[in-house]
Amino acid sequence: MTRLFEQDGTGTVDEEEVKWRERVAQIVERELGMPVKITYLEGFADGFTAARVTRCDLMGDGRARLEGQYILKVSDDPDDRQNEAHRLFTERLTSFADRRVPSLELSGHDEQLRVDIYKVAGETRGVRPARVATTAVSIDALSEVSRELLEAQFGHHAGGGLMTVRQTLEAWMGAGFLGGRKGEALREARRLAGSAGTIFAFATQVLPDPVSVLEQDNELSGEVEFVMRGYNHGDLHTRNILLDGVSADEVGYWLIDIAWDGDAPLLYDHAYLETATLLVGQELLRQQLPPRNPPGLRPPRPEKGRTPRVGGQRQARREHPPGQGRSDRGAPASP
Ligand SMILES: Nc1ncnc2c1ncn2[C@@H]1O[C@H](COP(=O)(O)OP(=O)(O)O)[C@@H](O)[C@H]1O
Ligand SMILES: [Mg+2]
Repeated sequence: MTRLFEQDGTGTVDEEEVKWRERVAQIVERELGMPVKITYLEGFADGFTAARVTRCDLMGDGRARLEGQYILKVSDDPDDRQNEAHRLFTERLTSFADRRVPSLELSGHDEQLRVDIYKVAGETRGVRPARVATTAVSIDALSEVSRELLEAQFGHHAGGGLMTVRQTLEAWMGAGFLGGRKGEALREARRLAGSAGTIFAFATQVLPDPVSVLEQDNELSGEVEFVMRGYNHGDLHTRNILLDGVSADEVGYWLIDIAWDGDAPLLYDHAYLETATLLVGQELLRQQLPPRNPPGLRPPRPEKGRTPRVGGQRQARREHPPGQGRSDRGAPASP
């Protein structure tokens, strides 16, 4: 039977949790160079990684470099490279990051865990992910995020050159991604959308189909365009943008959870944020629609001998470009 302990008014924690907290404390104390008491205040369970994120209070003897409330992020991969990604992004885009990215205050690891401590975003208690902010506020804020970030990215670019569509997509998604799970998902989406040729119609536009551009040689696959490289966030969806402020006019924002530790063609973040936002909107709409089966009616049973499909429910996991990524992380644009 697991023995239970009472700790710091934070509730009851089991033995395994106590050991884990001791481990975390050892890493923090080693980096700080002095003892510190960590009180766990509020856990955030909305991420997609194995990392555990908690708001906590650090209390030393008054001389510790870190005292007060911080965000403690603990990954069970000691080689997790988020601290590197954060360092690179904030060093390259300094003037933007100084205002818009909570600083990384401490980073350390042992053979099992990596601990990163960040400043808490925002001055008010009203800080919330853009995902849950009211639509009008978040739409205004998101276009501001995109505008300011793009300005900073262009202002501190890492050069550029001619690239084909394939080279650009592989720099973002990983070499050979079309042969892997992502390619599979793209082909499935294409099949479901009933797109067969090299183009498809979306609203009033005719757009090139990404799969056929890569799979077959055609007039688009060999074309080269000038591409600017720079520093992408790499996981810019609405859960990684925190909004602060009460009204649309005075809303502030912070970007957290930086994912890529290398330069890559720019505009990735902007396309990704747009897609993520569309998916969130779609999900909200879906929730507002009446259920397909009115209450009281049982859903139709699957035919005997056939397994019901659950397509679309499983989340794709992101693969990072080689040498660019943190460990395989969660579905980026999922609502
Ligand atoms: N610096 C911060 N300030 C305030 N809240 C934060 C901060 N960092 C993380 N959080 C909260 O924790 C959640 C998960 O953090 P995140 O770094 O995105 O982890 P994951 O990698 O699991 O997605 C965020 O959605 C946010 O609610
Ligand atoms: Mg996140």
